[in-house]
Parts: sequence; C-alpha cells; structure tokens
Amino acid sequence: MKTLLVIGIGAGDPDYLTLQAIAALNRASTFFLFDKGTEKDSLIHLRETICARHIRQADYRFVTAPIPERRREGDYRQAVDDLNAAKQALMEEMIEHELADDECGAFLVWGDPALYDSTLRILAAIRRDGRLDFDYEVIPGISSVQALAARHRVPLNRIGQALEITPGRHLERFPAHLDSLVVMLDSHEAYRRLDEPGLHIYWGAYVGTADEILIAGPLQEVAEEIHRVRSAAREEHGWIMDTYLLCRGPADA
Ligand SMILES: C[S@@+](CC[C@H](N)C(=O)[O-])C[C@H]1O[C@@H](n2cnc3c(N)ncnc32)[C@H](O)[C@@H]1O
Repeated sequence: MKTLLVIGIGAGDPDYLTLQAIAALNRASTFFLFDKGTEKDSLIHLRETICARHIRQADYRFVTAPIPERRREGDYRQAVDDLNAAKQALMEEMIEHELADDECGAFLVWGDPALYDSTLRILAAIRRDGRLDFDYEVIPGISSVQALAARHRVPLNRIGQALEITPGRHLERFPAHLDSLVVMLDSHEAYRRLDEPGLHIYWGAYVGTADEILIAGPLQEVAEEIHRVRSAAREEHGWIMDTYLLCRGPADA
C-alpha cells in the first residue's frame, strides 16, 4: 500500500524541525510540493534546503504542482471549497501517478498541519471518495503561533484562561469573553480597527527566518509603527506572513 507522511516542518527556522520530522523525511522517497508562484519562491527553497540538510539517502525526488489560486472576490467559504477541490484533484493525480504501490511520499506542511492548512482535510476527502488506497501519518510541527510566543518570550494564555485563534477577517473588536487572542491571516491589518484601551500586541513577521521582524507594546502606542514597518517589508519582499497576539495588558503579567 502507498504511504503518505504529512510532515509539519515548522514555521520558518529549519531548526524548528523535530527529531520525529527528520526521521519521517528519511522514510519518504518522493516529496510533493505546491508551487505558490514566484513571490513565495523562498518558501519552496526553504523546503528544498530542509530536505538537503536532513535527508541522508541520495535518491529522493520532488514532484511540484502549481497551486491553484483562490478567488479573491465573492463568497469566501465557496472560494476556499473550490480551491480545495482543485487541490484535491491535483493531489489525487500526484499520488496516483507519481507514487508506486509500496512507496512512501511526503507533503511538507508549513508550521503545523493542524493549523490553517487544508492538507489533512483534502487527504481525508480523497480517502472518502474511495478511488485511491493509501495510508497516512501526521507529524506535528512548530506552528507560527508557538514560534511567535517563543520569540517574544511570552505565554499565550492567562493562568487557567481560554486562548482563541482567529483569522483577521473575523476581528471587529476584541472579544469581551477573552484575555488573549492570536490573529493570523490578517492581510487587512484588523488590529488597526481596535480602539479598546489597555490592549497589548506582540507582532511578528517572517518569524524564525533571517527576515524576522518583532514589535511589541501597548497597541495604541505601536499600531502605527507596525503598520509602517509591515508596509515597507511587504513592499520589499513582495509578500508578508505575520501573526500577532493581543492581550488585555502585558501577556507575561
Ligand atoms: C495558511 S496559514 C498556515 C499556518 C501554519 N500551518 C502554522 O502552523 O503556522 C498562514 C498564516 O500563518 C502565519 N504564519 C506562518 N508562518 C509565519 C511566520 N514565519 N511568521 C509569522 N506568521 C506566520 C501568518 O498569519 C500566515 O498568514
């Protein structure tokens, strides 16, 4: 039977790879990559660097498919469903044609596969559809959320309290029932809309990479600085990935 490994590779620093992930890399003969276009070439490059650094056998190969683009207009959920259907078709094709029956293939997932990533949902859908027979395992990785907290040297939650993680597009105001909130996928800088006094922000871009930028402080004092630095970095690199923790008061109080 074909085996697939879904390997969390951490969210930036090649040293984020766990010992379990390195062992998994060495079990696979074929690595499936989605090419996100030239602006994110460096992310593909990082995956190749990770393989070159950690894989001991010489005869592994990459199979790359162009990632389909998500529609930016119209219903968000429908656009994501359509994107995942297109990815599913590509993944099915790669698994069927690029992996022999007794071979082991791997998907290298940025950060951790359980957090804002569709690979596990798509593999489950492929299995449910029943056209392909394969087994798969998941190897957890260090997510951008953990990396962000480590780089700012703060805990994510207040003692005994809840922590919520949200995409930026759901953030209109800081939720009344929370002390701590992590915001990801925020291309519209939702933190700039928040006017509640006393909020602190721990912001990080390209965390764990050579381009890492960290800014922290009372939101009202640092929001415009984050906006300025973020805009300049986005301009310079052509793309940005950033995450932030918002808390009522300092996170480590
Ligand atoms: C599609 S999600 C993938 C999350 C990933 N699976 C993880 O475990 O972190 C992409 C979002 O993750 C966050 N992200 C990923 N890597 C990051 C990094 N190195 N620095 C800051 N944010 C990052 C950003 O919010 C970005 O918009």
